[in-house]
Amino acid sequence: MTKIIFKLSELETIVKKEILPLLGKYKIFLFTGPLGAGKTTFIKNILKEIGVNQVITSPTFNYVNSYEINYKKNNINLNHFDLYRINNLDSFLSLGFDEYFYKTNNFCFIEWPEILEDFFINNELETQICRIELSFYENDFEKRLLIIS
Ligand SMILES: Nc1ncnc2c1ncn2[C@@H]1O[C@H](COP(=O)(O)OP(=O)(O)OP(=O)(O)O)[C@@H](O)[C@H]1O
Ligand SMILES: [Mg+2]
Repeated sequence: MTKIIFKLSELETIVKKEILPLLGKYKIFLFTGPLGAGKTTFIKNILKEIGVNQVITSPTFNYVNSYEINYKKNNINLNHFDLYRINNLDSFLSLGFDEYFYKTNNFCFIEWPEILEDFFINNELETQICRIELSFYENDFEKRLLIIS
């Protein structure tokens, strides 16, 4: 487990130093944290650092945005999910979204992943999951606590 306190202005550095190296080990990144903590901003920054050039919109209105890019000589797909408006696991599965977890060269960055916890219990995917918790810190709006596990 890694715990880091950072300023919002340092986000790019944090992403480069702490998150990009994890792409070699994990494929599914679960982002938890209170409303407005900065999950979307954090993920957009990761996508940008990996090499997404297109305008990165928030997936709030369509659950998932996908980007295909070349990264370290491989074609990869980056999928940014926002599950805030999906009420339960059955809805997620009936939309076929679990397929994204099994495709090769696919990375998933998921906001509001709480509905997936039951799905991941005793799941072979467990070793590919990285949990990232982002929360406010000490009433200082510029600071965040990041816990990576
Ligand atoms: N690194 C940052 N630098 C500057 N402002 C930021 C940063 N991260 C978040 N913010 C501010 O906080 C607001 C909320 O951020 P964001 O939408 O990323 O949070 P969220 O955790 O995804 O919210 P939600 O819970 O609604 O999904 C942004 O509109 C922005 O103003
Ligand atoms: Mg968000």
